[in-house]
This record gives sequence, C-alpha cells and structure tokens, in this order.
Amino acid sequence: MVAIEQIRNDLAQASRSRHQLVAVFVGGTSGIGESTARELVRYSTGRRIYLIGRSQDQADRIKTEFASLNPSCDVCFIQSDASQLGNVDSLCDKVKAQEEKIDVLFLSAGIFHLRGREETTEGLDRKMALDFYSRLRFTENLLPLLRHASSLSSSQSTREVLPAGGQVISVLGGGKETPIDESDLSLELNYTLKASTDHAVTMTTLSFQRLAAAPENANVAFFHTSPGMVNTNGDRELNIVIRLLVSTVSYVFRPWVTSTEETGKRHLWAAVSDTFRGGQIYLLNQRSERVDDSKVLNRLHEEGLFDRVWEHTRDVFKRIPTGDNHNV
Ligand SMILES: NC(=O)c1ccc[n+]([C@@H]2O[C@H](COP(=O)([O-])OP(=O)(O)OC[C@H]3O[C@@H](n4cnc5c(N)ncnc54)[C@H](OP(=O)(O)O)[C@@H]3O)[C@@H](O)[C@H]2O)c1
Repeated sequence: MVAIEQIRNDLAQASRSRHQLVAVFVGGTSGIGESTARELVRYSTGRRIYLIGRSQDQADRIKTEFASLNPSCDVCFIQSDASQLGNVDSLCDKVKAQEEKIDVLFLSAGIFHLRGREETTEGLDRKMALDFYSRLRFTENLLPLLRHASSLSSSQSTREVLPAGGQVISVLGGGKETPIDESDLSLELNYTLKASTDHAVTMTTLSFQRLAAAPENANVAFFHTSPGMVNTNGDRELNIVIRLLVSTVSYVFRPWVTSTEETGKRHLWAAVSDTFRGGQIYLLNQRSERVDDSKVLNRLHEEGLFDRVWEHTRDVFKRIPTGDNHNV
C-alpha cells in the first residue's frame, strides 16, 4: 500500500506537477474525474484542463470552485455525449485545435444502471461504449499529443528530464481481467451487467497492453485502475429503492469506502509521479499498488484473445467513421 501521507508528500514535491500541465478529463463533471481534476488544480501550475461531460450545471459549479482554488489554471468545459464515437472524434478535434501536447488523459466517464443493453445510434451498448470503445477512441485520437508531452514540458535550463511523455488513465477495474466471450465481444447476444463490466475491463487491459508495446508510444504510460468503493453519485441512474440499498451497503462497508478526495489524490499521484515509466501498462488498485494479473493475461494471450479484441475494435472503429453531424 502506498500511504496517503506519502502521496500527499510526493504530490507537493512532484517535478511534473510544476510544469504547465494540460489535462483532459473525460467524465470530469462528477466523481473520480472531478476529484482528480480538483487535486491537479490544487497541486499544479496547470495551464489548462478540459472537463468533458453532459452537465452544464455541474461544470459551472466546478469552474467557479476551481477558479478560486487556482486562478492561473484555465478550465474549459466541453459539453458532449461521449458515448457516441462520432462525438469523440469532434471533441478530440476541438482539443487538437487548441493544444500541441497533452500530459494527462483521464478517462472516467461511465454510467451505472440495471436497464440491460441500451443501443446507441451507432449500434453499441451505451455502457460498454462509455467504459471501453469511447475511451480507446479518445486514447488513439489523442496519442500524437500525448507523445509530445515530455519534450514540450521539459525545462531546457535545468537537468530535469521527465520520466515519460503523457499518461493515459482509465478508471474501471484494472487487475480484474477475466476470460470473456470472444464470439460476442460487444455483447449483442448475451448482455448482462456483469458481462458488460468483465468485457470492458479485459478489453481495456488487452488494448492498453497493445498500445504500450508499440515503439512509437515508448514515452506514454498507460494506467488501468480499480478505485474500489468510492462515495460518488455514480448510482444516480438507479431508482430510489436501489439507491437506498446502495447507501446502506456503503454505510455498512464504510471502513472500506474511499473518499473522493483520497481517490483524487491517488489518481493524480499516478499521473505525475516519477515512479512510472512510458511504454508500460500499470494495473493499480485502490491502494495505488500494482496488481499482478499476469497468470490470467498470459492465458488470454495464449488463447488468442489479445489479437481478437484488437481486430474486433478495428472493425467497430472502421464501421463508425468520423461524421459531420455530431453534437459537440
Ligand atoms: N465509484 C465507485 O465506487 C467505482 C468503483 C469501481 C469502478 N468505478 C468506475 O469509475 C468510473 C467513474 O465512476 P464515478 O463513481 O466517478 O462516476 P460518476 O460520479 O457518476 O461520474 C461519471 C462521469 O461520467 C460522465 N458521463 C456519464 N455519461 C456520459 C456521457 N454519455 N457523455 C459524457 N460524459 C458522461 C458524467 O458526467 P455528466 O453527468 O455531466 O455527463 C460524470 O462526469 C466509472 O467507469 C465507474 O464504473 C467506480
């Protein structure tokens, strides 16, 4: 376990946080994304952060708060439904028009509901789109700017050499990879909530492994984190009875529930710590420890799932090309 005191201490001293960071928070209007963005604003001389989400009211509240925390940090909200891959492309174009580099791409947009499979107009399940497809599309679109991070952040006048370029962090279930149904990867036939989570978790790790191994991404670090139980509004799409049940369970298990402030600090620490190197994937748990899931992952590789997931995602991305009619 990395103690929270050490994390606070490291954050106060981290060399990366002194640089003019540019960070994109997809799902930055609530929960783990919002709290990590808050810690970045608190600890860094951040140049600009982008918050992506649907709620204008939440964004207005956060922008007002962040401006008083650190007036030097520019907070830019882009309102969009990120479950549509066409919107993701338009969002990325907007960011690319403004920035030459991105230091942190933080991916935590997600929903929790019990309604079963819900198809977007692009033919993907909305939850799986948010948990996996859209996050990977953001990552691939923004990799050129992430690769550019360290060269533009390093100070020429000091001997400081930053350990990595950009950092991509997906918050879902790193370390909980499991065998999945390779004949129905996007769960068009056999959708369950558990299968949707298992598929998104495993497909994220296998895809990040592929990207981390590519020589051109040698200075980009990929994180897939498992935040444990965190007190957020993540249950807001559930009905009142189930929400009461969730609150009761959270109360009973409160010693194991992580506060949003702590998870924000832990995720920012991953993003700016010198501990992590580019060209690697890190599976981190709620205590910021690396999780070794190599036994399961090796088996999935032997069974060919590594290639199968990559090919499937290429097919989906080809089928949903960039369009002009998207709502950003
Ligand atoms: N909290 C936990 O205990 C826990 C545990 C394990 C894993 N996780 C995972 O961690 C991630 C973050 O969870 P959280 O607790 O921080 O959830 P949260 O508080 O509900 O935040 C989710 C974020 O996603 C955004 N979002 C949802 N649908 C969107 C859409 N269609 N387009 C754009 N943005 C959208 C929301 O913004 P808008 O409402 O403004 O659109 C919000 O900013 C999720 O993937 C969740 O599964 C959470």
